[in-house]
Amino acid sequence: MPESISTPLTPSGELSPEAFQTYLNASLRALQDEIEKFDEVVPGEQAAASFEELRQRWGGRKTGVVTQISHLVKQAPTEHKRAFGISFNEFKDIVSHLLDGLQTRIQDASTFRRVLDGLDISLPGIARTPGIAHPLLTTMERIVEVFHHLGYSTELGPQVESDFYNFEALNFPENHPARDTQDTLQIAGQEAKPSRDRLLLRTHTSPVQIRTMVAQDPPLRIVIPGKVHRNEAADATHSPTFHQVEGLCVGPDITFSDLKGTLDHAMRALFGSGVKTRFFPSFFPFTEPSADVQISCIFCGGSGCRKCKHSGWIELLGCGMVDPAVFQAVAGERRRLGLDDAPYDPARVSGFAFGMGVERIAMILHGVSDIGTFYSGDMRFLEQFA
Ligand code: FA5
Repeated sequence: MPESISTPLTPSGELSPEAFQTYLNASLRALQDEIEKFDEVVPGEQAAASFEELRQRWGGRKTGVVTQISHLVKQAPTEHKRAFGISFNEFKDIVSHLLDGLQTRIQDASTFRRVLDGLDISLPGIARTPGIAHPLLTTMERIVEVFHHLGYSTELGPQVESDFYNFEALNFPENHPARDTQDTLQIAGQEAKPSRDRLLLRTHTSPVQIRTMVAQDPPLRIVIPGKVHRNEAADATHSPTFHQVEGLCVGPDITFSDLKGTLDHAMRALFGSGVKTRFFPSFFPFTEPSADVQISCIFCGGSGCRKCKHSGWIELLGCGMVDPAVFQAVAGERRRLGLDDAPYDPARVSGFAFGMGVERIAMILHGVSDIGTFYSGDMRFLEQFA
């Protein structure tokens, strides 16, 4: 029982609820005074021992203050027992709250003390450098922005794709040798499904052309950045996972001249106004005619150097006019889904598409000779782009 506190008996010797409450309040003030004294105590073993003594004195099961006061509740006259009980329970909660709070304070202070004791302020600090966008990401954004300025909008698609969108609708028939040019990573356990629904890791961003045409009517001008995967060995210019930016423009009268003008402008926007483009016949199952686009070597200006293998030209991307078979596949899928197929009637619509490797462009823009450096996580390499 705190010494400074008188008993809760009234002068006439009875135990009233008001006198009991006054007694509890005075007890709490006494406890707070004791707790305040800990402000002057240095954190450590001594403080912990003093706290333990205080906790025993107040909260000890047999002789603690709280236990002793609980005896008074038992002595209360029957008609006041309930009021005594309520006041006592509140009192008990506050005592336990105050003691818990003090214990946390002492523990935190001694942890802080330990940290301070072990601190050597002469050691260099831990400098946290702010992160930067990866050079592949900035290259991809830079390409996409060129096309945004031409009125293209961005579309995205899944990396786990179905055979239909990745190959079939793009005019790669099953077992056709053209599929071998994009060695595919198949998802396991798909054998029971019809071949069009079997899942794989997309080998190019072209399936998003189909997804967008199935979902949206022409005219369309879209650009598709994304990650793609092929079952290929890594070397200085190839990686099994890499990035592409695809483009698709569809409307009533889109011609090869539109394709040439668009890519010529895009290449100059990316590599500088002095860059020339040239188109070579090529083959993709989903474009007809198809072309490979080369730009004049940005290192030697076209005179020939080691980077362009002394040809003066660098091969950069594939493109072509959308093959009518692709529009037919889109129209067929729209019919299957109960959508209007007329907008993609090959007699009424035409378009062009192109696709480029982001790593290849980043390597040219930054003079990087090994594609693997982009994925190495080597800070000395990455910090150059900060
Ligand atoms: C395609 O993937 C076509 N879908 C591109 C296309 C789109 C053509 C629309 C016509 C119309 P290709 O397989 O050539 O095409 O790949 C395109 C670019 O991706 C290549 O020029 C090259 O820069 C890049 N690329 C291909 N394989 C790898 C690889 N393993 N590692 C890094 N980049 C690669």
